Amino acid sequence: MTSDWWADAAVYQIYPRSFADSGDDGLGDLRGVTSRVPYLSSLGIDAVWLSPFYPSALADGGYDVDDYRDVDPRLGTLDDFDEMVAALHSAGIRVIVDLVPNHTSDRHAWFTEALAAPKDSPARDRYVFRDGTGPDGAGPPSDWQSIFGGSAWAQAPDGQWYLHMFAPEQPDLNWDNPEVRADFLTTLRFWADRGVDGFRIDVAHGLTKDLTEPFTPTAELPDLADADGTHPLWDRDEVHDIYAEWRRVFDEYDPPRMAVAEACVAPSRRHRYVGVDGLHQAFNFDLLEAAWDAEEFRARIDRQVADTESAGASATWVLSNHDVVRHATRYGLPGAEDNPRETAAAWLLSDGTEPPLDRDLGLRRARAATLLTLALPGSVYLYQGEELGLHEVGDLPTELIHDPEFRRSGGTRKGRDGCRVPIPWTSNGPSFGFSRGTPHLPQPEWFADYSVAAEEADPHSTLEIYRRALALRSKLRGRGFAWHDETRPQVLHFVRPEGWDCITNFGSQPVPLPEGTILFASAPIDAHLLPPNTTVWFLSGETPT
Ligand code: GLC
Repeated sequence: MTSDWWADAAVYQIYPRSFADSGDDGLGDLRGVTSRVPYLSSLGIDAVWLSPFYPSALADGGYDVDDYRDVDPRLGTLDDFDEMVAALHSAGIRVIVDLVPNHTSDRHAWFTEALAAPKDSPARDRYVFRDGTGPDGAGPPSDWQSIFGGSAWAQAPDGQWYLHMFAPEQPDLNWDNPEVRADFLTTLRFWADRGVDGFRIDVAHGLTKDLTEPFTPTAELPDLADADGTHPLWDRDEVHDIYAEWRRVFDEYDPPRMAVAEACVAPSRRHRYVGVDGLHQAFNFDLLEAAWDAEEFRARIDRQVADTESAGASATWVLSNHDVVRHATRYGLPGAEDNPRETAAAWLLSDGTEPPLDRDLGLRRARAATLLTLALPGSVYLYQGEELGLHEVGDLPTELIHDPEFRRSGGTRKGRDGCRVPIPWTSNGPSFGFSRGTPHLPQPEWFADYSVAAEEADPHSTLEIYRRALALRSKLRGRGFAWHDETRPQVLHFVRPEGWDCITNFGSQPVPLPEGTILFASAPIDAHLLPPNTTVWFLSGETPT
């Protein structure tokens, strides 16, 4: 086993409540994951990353954690966790768990204690409590807004206010408090001792804050995109002291445990999260926000390759996750060329009607984009269901929406439930094989066509493309990467010196392929012409006759 397995791993993200339910409560669980190890193994991934499975009231899909060292009883027990890890490990699949250090839930024992404790007490010091402004302190301490909308402050019953950069059920921790720091070290060891191979660090750029008063008003806060470490709330330089301490813990283990940061920071500052005295990787969300356009992809790939090279790190490629509209859908929305994020948000708000989604086009491009990222150096993070080519569910009735973003934005943002609908395993049955009960989010009829069973029966399905591509990808060696001197518009062509060429046609016309042998393609290829919206893996040389 190499200790830097993560550097070019294919990691598959499981959103446990929506993956597989071994019972009948309609909520996916850990035994469900264990039962699907053969499926995960057949996919050819190196690791799974599990979104939170800890006890939670699900105010934010589990990212509101009541207890960091336990399993939600609805999802199983610690014994189930151990069995799942053992089953995954025996299939050669490593396990990454999600750690949420910026905030606890409001049901965490510390927060209950803080609410019951007086002002200025040690219990309140674990969080960020402040007096309000105006007569009787009835106004929030500042005008800061939470990421989900509305004030970032909520009032405790005794009138003091506490900070929550996300939902009010997610009070921010005070990382200047030594007890908070020590407790997270205990949590890291708790899971590392149970055999966990790595951690995904939620909101890694948020932990340390400069909360000296007076607070800077929102209008005067620096833009995070060009932040220089002086923003009071995000991406402060001293956050790295925490990760240096964590790194010492990771390195106590053999093999060392790894960590990947969710750091939503200026690209020029991303590398600060990785290094020998920091975390191992930081997610790069650049491609996830790119329109289907060769120049955009090229610029973002260049930036990531250059940044990671200069930091001595490895790249991370992400097209979908539990927070964004699925990439098959993003690429099938007309208008998304100009502003993919806003087009997808508007489409969700229209219940998936405007602009009309071209499912086939989106899926075709999604397959091509996936093959492109699978050929790049570094690791790739895949999100459950993308291997089936699943589209976003755009028409979830608003009364069933769980995401706090929907209500806190006053209904102006639909939220992220549409990519969290339970996976279809079979083409029939009440929940397409997900559960014996009613799934916690309803699955649309069209899921039948995208089920694992349907796709296993079709050699040209998205699932089969992922399986074959992942198997081939495992033969790619080294970190070498170079653009070919190809100059055709809307065509990207790069070379992996110890592997093969990868050519993507983003345009609307077929383009001739150079001399050589086709290894694999995201769509059928005729007459040595690369069709629109297609990626090919290719060995240059003489074309076999
Ligand atoms: C991260 C998670 C997201 C969650 C937020 C607050 O961005 O990916 O799902 O809502 O953190 O924990």
